[in-house]
Amino acid sequence: MTADVEIRVPGDKSLSHRALIFAALARGTSQIRDILLSADVHSTAGVLRALGVPVPPLGADITITSAGARAFTPPAVDLDCGNSGTTTRLLAGVAAGCAFHSRFIGDESLSRRPMRRVARPLIEMGARVELEAGDGLPMVIHGGALHSIAWRSETASAQIKSAILLAGVVAGVDVQVTEPSRSRDHTERMLRAFGATVEVDGTRVRLAATETLQPFDLRVPADPSSAAFLIALAVLSAHTSIVVPNVCLNPTRTGFFEVLRRMGARVQTVPGAQQGGEDTGSVEGAPSELRGVVVGAGDVPSMIDELPLLACAAARALGTTEIRGAAELRVKESDRIATVVSNLRALGASADELPDGLVVHGSSSPLRGTVRTHGDHRIAMAFGVLGALPGNEIAFDDPSCVAVSYPAFWSDLGRATRAMAGR
Ligand code: S3P
Repeated sequence: MTADVEIRVPGDKSLSHRALIFAALARGTSQIRDILLSADVHSTAGVLRALGVPVPPLGADITITSAGARAFTPPAVDLDCGNSGTTTRLLAGVAAGCAFHSRFIGDESLSRRPMRRVARPLIEMGARVELEAGDGLPMVIHGGALHSIAWRSETASAQIKSAILLAGVVAGVDVQVTEPSRSRDHTERMLRAFGATVEVDGTRVRLAATETLQPFDLRVPADPSSAAFLIALAVLSAHTSIVVPNVCLNPTRTGFFEVLRRMGARVQTVPGAQQGGEDTGSVEGAPSELRGVVVGAGDVPSMIDELPLLACAAARALGTTEIRGAAELRVKESDRIATVVSNLRALGASADELPDGLVVHGSSSPLRGTVRTHGDHRIAMAFGVLGALPGNEIAFDDPSCVAVSYPAFWSDLGRATRAMAGR
């Protein structure tokens, strides 16, 4: 295939958070290129600065010189994580290994999200954690010497797994985490790439006690979760194919592209170079007839953030799509099962909630109305794709919430839409 339009999307969000955290934990000078410049990543940079790490203003090419976690200093302010669950949970792991108190706060959406899931293993390792408001934020961590742990997580969550692994790194102890199924493995890959010993056996990860990580030079590949919107747009369009170059193609992140193919979509990936322990390549989507599909628990972790988009694509497919085993969607930036179903219905599509997922009945009738994003970036962008299709007329109560992960989303979508109209 030769694509009609090429669109570059910004750096991967999961890798950008981790690059900053790993640069702070390493002793020496690290260089990070093409980091995602978005609100969530600024939250991680801000929290690291509050812990005394000299993180410069973020830009296309940044250099961080750190003396490692031992040099972190007690924060003089609350650690404001904004809207970012990854900032909170990963840095909770780091703070648990530091001999001072840290108080994590966030916006209204983040304050409602469950934190006990990360507090429990950290308490088991020896930290003292107070959840001031039940299960959400504010969360106070009294860190210090931790001991080794073998934790069995009830949820497949890279954030919980990473919190435990990072606590292990800061405390210099051996840790083991077993998940019900495998969540994204960027932390394990970076740990290995930057000097730690990590063994993976199915859904179990074991980190051998390590005290120092090596500084590094990392170019962050593009975010498959952001690329997914443009690929879905091409697949749903009448005439226009789109290619997104240099995307992170870690197999724990590419489930959306595989499920789209199962629906009959023409989606192709062309492998490129490895970057920082991650596979990369270009992804191309071309106009396709989609059929409904069943998505089960086994598919969910590798496409957790793309499920709202899949539901929107399913609204344009032939037949019914059923998504199950995805109760985690209820505790994301919004209750994504409820927000997707209520918005699809508000636009005239047919969808039903399940306790752990949703059912969407595809149709080709025009979709019209206003989407209530609940401040959730992925809801805005998933419905943004539907809004860009000819015949649909969709408005948004809060389009600016895309700043959390993909600030240039509306302009990239506009570029793609104009290219489509010009054909
Ligand atoms: C993330 C993990 C996922 C994902 C989030 C980013 C990460 O959360 O939804 O957007 O970078 O570790 P869980 O692994 O907790 O489901």
